This record gives sequence, C-alpha cells and structure tokens, in this order.
Amino acid sequence: MTVRLVQAGLRYKPEVLEMLSQIPKEDSAFLRGYGRISKVTIVGFLQRLYNSALGLYLEEGMVPTTTYWVYDGTKLIGIGRLRHKLNEALEKKGGNCGYYVRPEYRGKGYASEILEALKEEAKRRGMKKILLTAKYDNFASIEVIMKNGGVEDEPNGDILRFWIDLNETEKGPKDDLD
Ligand SMILES: CC(C)(COP(=O)(O)OP(=O)(O)OC[C@H]1O[C@@H](n2cnc3c(N)ncnc32)[C@H](O)[C@@H]1OP(=O)(O)O)[C@@H](O)C(=O)NCCC(=O)NCCS
Repeated sequence: MTVRLVQAGLRYKPEVLEMLSQIPKEDSAFLRGYGRISKVTIVGFLQRLYNSALGLYLEEGMVPTTTYWVYDGTKLIGIGRLRHKLNEALEKKGGNCGYYVRPEYRGKGYASEILEALKEEAKRRGMKKILLTAKYDNFASIEVIMKNGGVEDEPNGDILRFWIDLNETEKGPKDDLD
C-alpha cells in the first residue's frame, strides 16, 4: 500500500464530490463551516482551498494551508492537510497537520501512511518540525501520531499536543538491537 497525495485544485473528479458529500457530521471540521458539500457548494469550497494554499484571501486567524486528496492507486482514500505555519490558536489546538480517512478505509493503516507523506511535504517546504494535536479520546489519531515519532508536549486541557522532528534520521532495525 502506497498512498499518493494530489493537491486539491479547482477542478474535481466525481469521487472527490462523493467523498466530501459523505463526510460524517462528527468529522465535519474538515469542511470548515461549509456544512454539506453539493455540486453547487463544492465550487466555492475548492476555490477557498486553492486560495488558502497560496495564502490568498485568508480569513481572520487562518494560516496558509495545502489540502491533498489521498489516493491508493485509483481509490480515493481520504484527505491530508498541511498548515504551513502555526499561530497562537493552532499551537493550542489544530497544529500543522490534519488527516481524514473515509470510514470504509479505516483501520488499515492509511492514516499512518498519510502522515508519513505529509511529513515529506513539510520537509520539502523546509519545515523543521511539525505540531500535531488530538483530543484525548481520539485513540486512533494518537496511535498514528506516536507511530510517526510524535513526542508529547504540555497538553492544552483535553487536547494532547505532539511534536515531530523532521530532521531526526529514521531508525533502522540495527538501532533497535543496541
Ligand atoms: C483518525 C483516523 C484518521 C484514523 O484513520 P485510520 O486509517 O483508521 O488509522 P490507521 O489504520 O492508520 O491507524 C489507526 C491505529 O489506531 C489504532 N486504533 C484505532 N482505534 C483505536 C482505539 N479505540 N484505541 C486504541 N487504538 C486504536 C489502530 O489499531 C491502529 O493502530 P495499529 O496500526 O497499531 O493497528 C480516522 O479515524 C479518521 O479519519 N477520523 C476522523 C478525522 C480525525 O479524527 N482526524 C484526526 C485528527 S486531525
């Protein structure tokens, strides 16, 4: 399994509309206030994502963010999101990365793959470390962050905060034997 990140553009494939229109209510933070995505609203939504990646017309408190559609072969698995920098609010909650896996593809290791790919994107952008946050009871997300080298920092209430150092060299099997 190898995931592929495709930056969200202004044109979309039918599977993107299908995925966005099916996002469960409890995960709707990914839609940033758009509510239900339909053929009509997706145009504005994509325009907003496009602008955000370029740092254009950012709403108050928003930082430039690139959104990716995540594919495994031709299957659309989910969404990855990289915020190019942090602000005070994101330091407390939100961090640099977000990921969403479509319910039918969960529990197969995709989120770990997505985070791995987002780390590479962050490195490519010259970022040295990234912050990830998760609610204390989002066990799957916490597991994914820990697996990807997350080091816990002070929590913010019920939000756990982790840093991933992007300069740290990958540990090979030899290191584990020492
Ligand atoms: C969080 C989310 C991305 C996980 O996606 P996923 O593809 O199912 O995750 P993975 O399969 O890569 O890994 C999940 C890991 O968490 C573990 N896990 C899942 N539920 C768990 C639970 N209740 N308790 C402990 N561990 C749990 C899994 O066993 C797996 O670990 P393993 O690889 O060691 O077996 C997905 O549930 C999702 O999209 N949720 C909604 C959006 C969200 O919360 N995003 C994260 C915050 S930005």
